[in-house]
Amino acid sequence: MRIAMIGAGYVGLVSAACFAEFGHEVVCVDKDAEKIQALKRGEMPIYEPGLSQLVQSNAREGRLSFSLFLAGVVERAEVVMIAVGTPSRRGDGYADLSYVYEAARAVAASLSGFTVIVVKSTVPVGTGDEVARIIGETRPDADFAVVSNPEFLREGAAIRDFKHPDRIVIGCEDERARETMAQLYRPLYLNAAPILNTRRRAAELIKYAANAFLATKITFINEIADLCEQIGADVQEVARGVGLDNRIGSKFLHAGPGFGGSCFPKDTTALIKIGQDHRAPQRIVETVVAVNDQRKRAMAGKVAEALGGKPRGKTIAIVGLTFKPNTDDMRESPAIALINALQDMGARVRAYDPVGMEQAKAALSDVTYCDSPYSCADGADVLVIVTEWEQFRALDLARLKQVMTRPALVDLRNVYPAEEVERLGFIYRGVGRPLFELAVAELARAS
Ligand code: UGA
Repeated sequence: MRIAMIGAGYVGLVSAACFAEFGHEVVCVDKDAEKIQALKRGEMPIYEPGLSQLVQSNAREGRLSFSLFLAGVVERAEVVMIAVGTPSRRGDGYADLSYVYEAARAVAASLSGFTVIVVKSTVPVGTGDEVARIIGETRPDADFAVVSNPEFLREGAAIRDFKHPDRIVIGCEDERARETMAQLYRPLYLNAAPILNTRRRAAELIKYAANAFLATKITFINEIADLCEQIGADVQEVARGVGLDNRIGSKFLHAGPGFGGSCFPKDTTALIKIGQDHRAPQRIVETVVAVNDQRKRAMAGKVAEALGGKPRGKTIAIVGLTFKPNTDDMRESPAIALINALQDMGARVRAYDPVGMEQAKAALSDVTYCDSPYSCADGADVLVIVTEWEQFRALDLARLKQVMTRPALVDLRNVYPAEEVERLGFIYRGVGRPLFELAVAELARAS
């Protein structure tokens, strides 16, 4: 099939490359000339494992190309996918739909023959209706159907998620469009990926509800972690015990510094607005957002505590800056709120991230960037692991101890066993874990 993908951002580019890999003929259109030129040279605008090879091989084999101009590409396409950004609108938290509507108008002008318009961007309920209205108004003669087909990719695992989805959601009320979508995803039928046909509005809500639920699950375990710290329990044990109940499930129960990224913060805020507008307040999600925002800054208190409550003038080494591993994305990363709070307390910050430092420079100021975790720890009073990159999972702790002014480790992702680290002479603080020192003291008291 011939597909026009409007938008070469995260979702657009990954989906375009994967559909091309299925054998479809895909042209990815973006109005950012620099981005299109770079893609034509085989250079990726984002860091995503496996993406570069996938784009290059499909481009070489002629199934994937890039263009600045939408008109001719849309005219030839049987399926037009809108995958432009829907950032939070400044000030009010609503999803900014101006790029989606602009794309709808531009697409309408070039439609020819029956065309399925697929909205892939995450959009509030009712946006599909508005896209259909805009197209119908711009081109009363056009033969088209609008489908909502939300994407559930995770950054860092996007290609795998695309090829092995938990489900594919197709929201539309048009039989012809449904048939076209079935053909489009046929290669995944063979992998037995469940396809869920719904009404368009349900598909739009599924995306927000799924992200809000996952954000809630994380926030829930984060609050349980706070309780664990007070009562001397280990949140990892609690999460395992809870998650083994099939009705709950073990995923997304890792306590940490709070969720970040380009999706959960934006989509939870947008869902709150949708609920308010439709007189169905989403009070659980409202609380999740408030608790998560507060948590990111509160992590600075944990670092201060590891410094004996006196962070002023101290040097803090932060390893891991991106909102999660395997991405260069800094959007809403807990590292930003944490570093800002530590700087407000008068601390000096050194930092290292395997791929996110360029992006970090735009989001942070007065940070000394280093070229390895060890140079980052040099002269530091405490080392803080904010993002669980693989390469931080087996750090040479003895070497770190040698270069640090004071051996203290704040492990916001619970990567290390507390006992082992403390045995090496470090002060250790995890998230939702009993203090080993306390356990020792308690044992001593009991004996
Ligand atoms: C999320 C969803 O997982 C995808 O299904 C969805 O398609 C995507 O948003 C989107 O709407 O486009 P993503 O933002 O890439 O994907 O990242 P996640 O892996 O979900 O992680 C989000 C945040 O939650 C990260 O900051 C991560 O560190 C945090 N997290 C995740 C935890 O703190 N604990 C967990 O157990 C899981």
